Amino acid sequence: MSAAEQKQSSLIKAGAGAVRQAAQIIQDGGLVAFPTETVYGLGANALNGQAVARIFAAKERPDFNPLIVHFHDPDQLPEYVEFNETARLLASHFWPGPISFVLPQVQGCKISELCSAGLPTLAVRVPAHKIAQSFLKECGVPVAAPSANKSGRLSPTAPVHVVGSLGNAVDMVLAAGNCEVGLESTVLDLSGSEPVLLRFGAITAEQISSVLGYDIKVSGTHIEGETVKSPGQLLQHYAPSISVRMNAVDLNPGEALLAFGSDKFMGIKGGGAAKDLPDCSRSNLSETSDLNEAAANLFRMLHNLDRAEHSAIAVMPIPRMGIGVAINDRLSRAAQSGKS
Ligand code: TXA
Ligand code: MG
Repeated sequence: MSAAEQKQSSLIKAGAGAVRQAAQIIQDGGLVAFPTETVYGLGANALNGQAVARIFAAKERPDFNPLIVHFHDPDQLPEYVEFNETARLLASHFWPGPISFVLPQVQGCKISELCSAGLPTLAVRVPAHKIAQSFLKECGVPVAAPSANKSGRLSPTAPVHVVGSLGNAVDMVLAAGNCEVGLESTVLDLSGSEPVLLRFGAITAEQISSVLGYDIKVSGTHIEGETVKSPGQLLQHYAPSISVRMNAVDLNPGEALLAFGSDKFMGIKGGGAAKDLPDCSRSNLSETSDLNEAAANLFRMLHNLDRAEHSAIAVMPIPRMGIGVAINDRLSRAAQSGKS
């Protein structure tokens, strides 16, 4: 069997049998990549420290970066975290869904300390994806799951990305096509005196503020010199291997184009038109300028354009409205990493 074939062997199409098999692997201390509506997660039994340690090894992730723990039902939470009033209210609006809450752990919380990386808090999420729901239910234990990619790389929005990034380090990939949202969950810290948005996502600061009836604090981008509350705030977190140039209005020769809306009039410096580039050098996040479609396509298209033959990926301007804020956030992190 070739290396590529061996890599493929762990990829199994999600169905009732596959879900049971995946849950068994989790109960036995193994690693399963599973779909959520945001991105694919790399799951392990959150109560089993050795299993959680395998996540860090597979991702080559620094231990100080804590993990999100996944549940199928909010009723499971009080056993592990202080599920306070604010969290309950927001959960009733947004769960199951693409948002994670950071909450204080209860005394004697049985979740492995590796998940919280030594912090007194824990990030928790109830995802909406049907396969995620049945998988988590079948597991019967909380499942710790970061995005199923090597640390510092793009999050996977399709099974093939997981296999390409993690290969045999994962025991099984529960494959269920492309992720609908395509960006990691919003992370909201509810452990302090006031809510703080730590990571932008599909659920926006405006949506959260409107449920709470007051404006929440936003701390989405890490400011140099400040203590990092959530390591996901580090600028260099979402990186293709080539550089990313934002707000491009024309192309440099050798650059790939990630378009948004029409690229009909986009030129290449020195001559030529972007629309004549081959498919492997040109993708469009959304020809109709639909921000949700753009979010769902973002990581897959960055993955596809991330090729050594390109000098960079030039991205057309994307409006900073709704989920466009999260899209720009991920792109500016990717752009920042290419510079270092
Ligand atoms: O959409 C998602 O959130 C995906 C799916 C699989 O659920 N997961 C994901 O996990 O993106 P990960 O590990 O790649 O990102 C988790 C983020 C990181 O930025 C981490 O620093 C932050 O959540 N985080 C986790 N626990 C935290 C805590 N106790 N306090 C503050 N930030 C925390
Ligand atoms: Mg990640």
